[in-house]
Amino acid sequence: MSSKNKTLGEFIIENQTEFRYSTGELSKLINAIRLAAKVVNHEVNKAGLVDILGSAGDTNIQGENQQKLDVLANEKFIQTLKNREIVCGIASEEEDDFISINSQDENHQNKYVVLIDPLDGSSNIDVNVSVGTIFSIYRRVTPVGTPVTLEDFLQPGKNQVAAGYIIYGTSTMLVYTTGHGVNGFTLNPAIGTFYLSHPNMQFPETGKIYSVNEGNYIHFPQGVKDYIKYCQKEEGDRPYTSRYIGSLVSDFHRNMIKGGIYMYPKSSKAHKGKLRLLYECNPMAFLAEEANGKASDGFQRIMEIQPTELHERVPFFCGSKKMVETAEEFMANS
Ligand code: AHG
Ligand code: MN
Ligand code: MN
Repeated sequence: MSSKNKTLGEFIIENQTEFRYSTGELSKLINAIRLAAKVVNHEVNKAGLVDILGSAGDTNIQGENQQKLDVLANEKFIQTLKNREIVCGIASEEEDDFISINSQDENHQNKYVVLIDPLDGSSNIDVNVSVGTIFSIYRRVTPVGTPVTLEDFLQPGKNQVAAGYIIYGTSTMLVYTTGHGVNGFTLNPAIGTFYLSHPNMQFPETGKIYSVNEGNYIHFPQGVKDYIKYCQKEEGDRPYTSRYIGSLVSDFHRNMIKGGIYMYPKSSKAHKGKLRLLYECNPMAFLAEEANGKASDGFQRIMEIQPTELHERVPFFCGSKKMVETAEEFMANS
């Protein structure tokens, strides 16, 4: 069978045995995410038609204005995962604290926690530009059958068992890894089925695209300024092209296919950068490394960082290996 005819459902079943200690639980979880993705996709697609555009009139714990679709996507994901009784805990960008599931029931044996950015790229919702969802999955570290604790969520990215994103773009795709490469599935909206359209995705070793919000240039550390000037210099395969959508998922997806680097450095305005370690940077870092790319905070591997807070932020440099390495050299030399 050609890979293009293989559905995500079939792929999950075929690859179930790849997981260590597999009991089918992780497969069921990915299935639940597949379902939630379809539900959110449906909402995102009709966003212009019904009253779900614009602000929800509230701010999340990080002081950001919540869009209605942020709130809706958050509800749909949490509901789908809760209803299937498939995880023991969920943390989300849109929730102040983590959610413990079935914490009263001593018989519940669920081992996995999920961390999500339900709607990434919120500023693009109202203008019909690609947005996404990001997820990260860990095995809990506390005993099964007990309520989850913060410790279960504050694990370094290298402990992830699976991670991925959904991109609601010109077509909707689900891209994920369980530590055996990265595979991308495209939704056929007519029948609501995801097909394996991008098997074994890989970042080109190097590329010609740099993605950064250059409006913040004067606030960037000297190393980042120097690297941006290097990208713009007429020399060898440069200047590079600048492309910045403002949805991490979309910028990452393009760079993985075409070759490029995404940067959200710290600045004199945002001392730890903007992106969140647990549900933005770690899952993207896992995908990047599984796709022969690299993810760093400018100095060290993202997935080595020991988190101390659920919503902590971190500078982020991610993409084609050679480009991230060059950016790191500029950081080290400045
Ligand atoms: P979110 O919509 O989940 O808050 O994330 C937005 C993030 C990321 O997706 C994007 O790359 C970045 O913020 C854009 O930030 P700027 O507008 O500051 O460039
Ligand atoms: Mn985000
Ligand atoms: Mn978000």
